[in-house]
Amino acid sequence: FLYGKFILNDRLKILKNIAILISGTGSNMEAIINDTLSNDHPGVVKFVLSNRSDALGLLKAKKLGIKTFVFPVNRTNSLENFEKKLLKLLIKEKIDLLCLAGFMKVLSKKFLINFRGNVLNIHPSILPSLKGLNTHKRILEKKSITHGATVHKVIPELDSGKILGQTTIKISKGDTHDKLAKKLIKKERYLYIKVIRNIMTGKNKIIQID
Ligand code: GAR
Repeated sequence: FLYGKFILNDRLKILKNIAILISGTGSNMEAIINDTLSNDHPGVVKFVLSNRSDALGLLKAKKLGIKTFVFPVNRTNSLENFEKKLLKLLIKEKIDLLCLAGFMKVLSKKFLINFRGNVLNIHPSILPSLKGLNTHKRILEKKSITHGATVHKVIPELDSGKILGQTTIKISKGDTHDKLAKKLIKKERYLYIKVIRNIMTGKNKIIQID
């Protein structure tokens, strides 16, 4: 089955090519890869790239048989250089869809203009509320009763592109930011794979998972 899927992709270009950027655990990444392995999925993950060599997700991707790359971003390796190498790879692998999954760098406008495919991100808040970092902590400070996550298109303005899907969780008494993160991540994964299937099959209905 799988073999057939990859042959079709290489010879006839029936499947769409996905690449995933990570910086850490990679549980969204793992869910996306696993979903693409099912025979009815319109896409295939061609590679996973991390800006950190210690990202746990790299090991998970390798175990699932996916090619991995590390392009470090630090004092000696600029984000500009990272983006140049990434763009080359995206073109070489004919990537249609780039998914950010816990990727903790902000891609530049120049990169987003140069890459012609779609770029998606998952953000742990109900956007447009709580853009940026530390969303679990910040939602507790707001004494809100609902938290959630959003999958959106990536544009140069941080966490501001078109919303493609959202999921929510209830905040209970005694929830800490760790507890919230654990509750939310399960629903994030479910949301992200649904949105990817949706966008790849040309459906533009916004997905809502409560
Ligand atoms: C997820 O909660 C994702 O929403 C968040 O990082 C976590 C990654 O988990 N992303 C951001 O905060 C992006 N600004 P994972 O590595 O297990 O998928």
